[in-house]
Amino acid sequence: MRILSGIQPSGALHIGNYLGAIQQYIALQHDNEAYYFVADYHALTSVRDPEKLRAYVRDVLLDLLSLGLDPEKATVFVQSDVPETVELAWLLTSVTPMGWLEKCVSYKDKIAQGIPAEHGLFAYPVLQAADILLYDADVVPVGQDQKQHLEITRDVAERFNSVYGKNEPVFKLPDAKILPTVAVVPGLDGRKMSKSYGNTIEIFEDPKSIEKKCKRIVTDSTPVEEPKNPDTCSVYALLKLFVDEQESADWAARYRAGGMGYGDVKKRLAAAIIDYFAPYREVRKSLAADPVKLEEIRRAGAERARKTARIVLERARRACGLGS
Ligand code: TYM
Repeated sequence: MRILSGIQPSGALHIGNYLGAIQQYIALQHDNEAYYFVADYHALTSVRDPEKLRAYVRDVLLDLLSLGLDPEKATVFVQSDVPETVELAWLLTSVTPMGWLEKCVSYKDKIAQGIPAEHGLFAYPVLQAADILLYDADVVPVGQDQKQHLEITRDVAERFNSVYGKNEPVFKLPDAKILPTVAVVPGLDGRKMSKSYGNTIEIFEDPKSIEKKCKRIVTDSTPVEEPKNPDTCSVYALLKLFVDEQESADWAARYRAGGMGYGDVKKRLAAAIIDYFAPYREVRKSLAADPVKLEEIRRAGAERARKTARIVLERARRACGLGS
């Protein structure tokens, strides 16, 4: 099966990215043909400092590789190293009804936050459709927040196929792969963990800062001695994702019994997160010390990705009458 997914370099990656998406990338790279990329064209909708964007791209590449993406197994690349992407986006945008984009929740959300309504933000899902369709992807591992973008991708592919692929479909219809237990990882304030909400715990954040952030996780004000409900608590929701079943059942029992303060479970959560990522921190350090190797991985990934992309783009160009 062909797997594809992307992640925006719009700041440091957080544990929502890891649990919802990156863990799936790593698991799926073994028995499949996998493509994973750093979505820097997409990040242009929010990052306007060129030096920062370059640094973020490098950081995300380092993060992905140190967390376990293996460039020998998966094609790891940077989106803008494959400019075929933007040509396909134009072919797709030409058949995409405005109404489909107008109903997009993530666009409406950003406008509601006061972010200017630029065309790039509006057309974002078409670029994402191009990312996916350009590689004939079968499966796209993502978190819940990408579900609507995947639905639009399928709609755009179907629309293009019905306009231009009467005899033979031009594009494959991809499926989203969303794991229910980690579909929406909560942030410090209980909303979805997200850079744009400022409620994240970063994967490679300084351990002291992880401890401080865990202390800040919003809980209710039930006194220590009273029973508490683990199922409505963000601290427990996060802890469950980092400890084994036995330990998570033990904590649930302690919540329900009363006599446990939120401070205890927050401390345990911080330690669990720090321990979990400790080995990756070491790998990251040594990768970061070898920029030449990183550049070589990037170059090789782009070459492999472009090979596939050119085949699909040519098919799409021919189907709609471009070229001689
Ligand atoms: P991005 O960069 O916001 O997030 C990257 C991945 O992390 C997942 N994710 C989460 N999962 C669970 N809980 C959370 N709190 C959480 N926060 C983020 C996201 O669902 C995503 O899978 N538009 C995409 C990037 C993109 C893309 C693509 C993805 C561009 N082209 C093609 C797939 C295929 C985005 O902004 O993800």
